Amino acid sequence: MGVNQNTRDGRNQSLWQKNISNDHEHRAFDPSQTYDVLIVGAGITGITTALLLQKAGMQCAIADAHNPGYGTTGGTTAHINTFADTTFAEVESAFSEDAAQQFADSIAESVDLIHELVNIYQIDCDFEWKNGYVYSQTDKETKELDDILNSSLKVGVEVRVSNQVPVTVDFQKAIVFGRQAQFHPLKYILALQTEFRNLGGVVLENTLIQDVQTLDGFHIASAPSAKIKAKAIVYATHIPPGGVNVLHFRNAPYRSYVIAATLTSDAYPEDLVYDMQEPYHYFRTHMIDGQKYLVAGGHDHKTGHGDPEQSFADLIAFTRQCYPVKDIFTQWSAQYYVPADGLPYIGKLPGASDGIYAATGFSGNGMILGTVSAMVLSDLIIQGKSVYEELYNPARIKPIAGFAEVVKEGVDVVARFIGDRLGLEDIKSVSQLPVDSGEVVEYDGQKLAIYRDPNGNIQALDPVCTHTKCIVHWNNSEKSWDCPCHGARFDTDGTVLTGPARENLARVLTKPEVQE
Ligand code: FES
Repeated sequence: MGVNQNTRDGRNQSLWQKNISNDHEHRAFDPSQTYDVLIVGAGITGITTALLLQKAGMQCAIADAHNPGYGTTGGTTAHINTFADTTFAEVESAFSEDAAQQFADSIAESVDLIHELVNIYQIDCDFEWKNGYVYSQTDKETKELDDILNSSLKVGVEVRVSNQVPVTVDFQKAIVFGRQAQFHPLKYILALQTEFRNLGGVVLENTLIQDVQTLDGFHIASAPSAKIKAKAIVYATHIPPGGVNVLHFRNAPYRSYVIAATLTSDAYPEDLVYDMQEPYHYFRTHMIDGQKYLVAGGHDHKTGHGDPEQSFADLIAFTRQCYPVKDIFTQWSAQYYVPADGLPYIGKLPGASDGIYAATGFSGNGMILGTVSAMVLSDLIIQGKSVYEELYNPARIKPIAGFAEVVKEGVDVVARFIGDRLGLEDIKSVSQLPVDSGEVVEYDGQKLAIYRDPNGNIQALDPVCTHTKCIVHWNNSEKSWDCPCHGARFDTDGTVLTGPARENLARVLTKPEVQE
């Protein structure tokens, strides 16, 4: 216990981890207590949900497998927008005019809620109101931009045409959204966590929920260190963990790339800037400890399908074209989930017992849609209903052509490798890896995930993902094994970094840490 630096689910440090500590002194957990709600996952979704419930008089516990912000909240670029990756025009086309209006209303409410919480609790999290510029560079992009402009105006979002953008590029057309904002995500959620604890909430870190059983209307969540009894459970873990759930097939995992750079001049943009390229880019500025940083992001790709190092190289090269970059202070990546029909899934978890909820499918809009989730879930739990219940119902069926290609189950499925354990010589015979890198190799008809650490030691794992048996891919940037099917990620020793997997990858090498 004590004050430690926050960790996250990758080897690279995000800008938000700089000089941030987490007070781990939590209220003692009482195993005999029945909690009203157990929230699994201490990111923006889980902590905001827990705070809203606790404020309403419920007794809640949060359990996180690691620490607050370990997942995507620690790696976000912390944009607070009144528009989303799924445009209002797309929602109107796939659902209805009413749905587009509700989507816009819920997003606007989430921006207000974040601002209100910052004000109520006087949170020192670098919250700043901004304008958000979006610009087009081709006829096709301009047509899409016009759709964004018109559909945003139709649902009452503040936006207008602009004749300039805060980046040196040639553009055809630009629009500017008012009432956008940015903040420091870890400062924000850690402050919310403090308020939650002040209201009597309990936070359990390093508590991986491995199983949930329901009996007589109560849920018993089991972790190696604790059993927690609750009347309701919220999975605020992106995708719900554990066995196969329909949401695993309606959300595709993506990796997104970010750099924080210093510039040779004061050309840092005052506002938020987005282009419309495929893959897209965006820029903003954040000051930390008196130093300004240009935060640039983009070059996203499906988890386990792209080349992370190439994404970083492309992002850095593009940023250098746009701004006078001096140094790259840090670079990192984060994961998000794209929903099949464009809208997030928030509400009762399909196929689960009554009283079990989930929220996922936020695309690149986790700050606002995580907060929308907290509003919807707390209303569902406290009042039994939410005005947005139908819009975000996870059980809705809205197939979108082409999505099956994105999350094809079993695309990499193979028979599970359990065979005899191997010796170091066997491994060496199939792998000539450079240090601190990994690869999946074939040995005697079996696949192995091999990692050679900076000292030359070899770790061999069964590469079959413990979720539903796809083959993991090596991520040489974050030094992790990433599953292309539903986004589970594992450390070099096989430990789960990111769900939905709950079990570690099996070790295969007889002596996993033998010096070569
Ligand atoms: Fe589902 Fe790996 S098989 S995350």
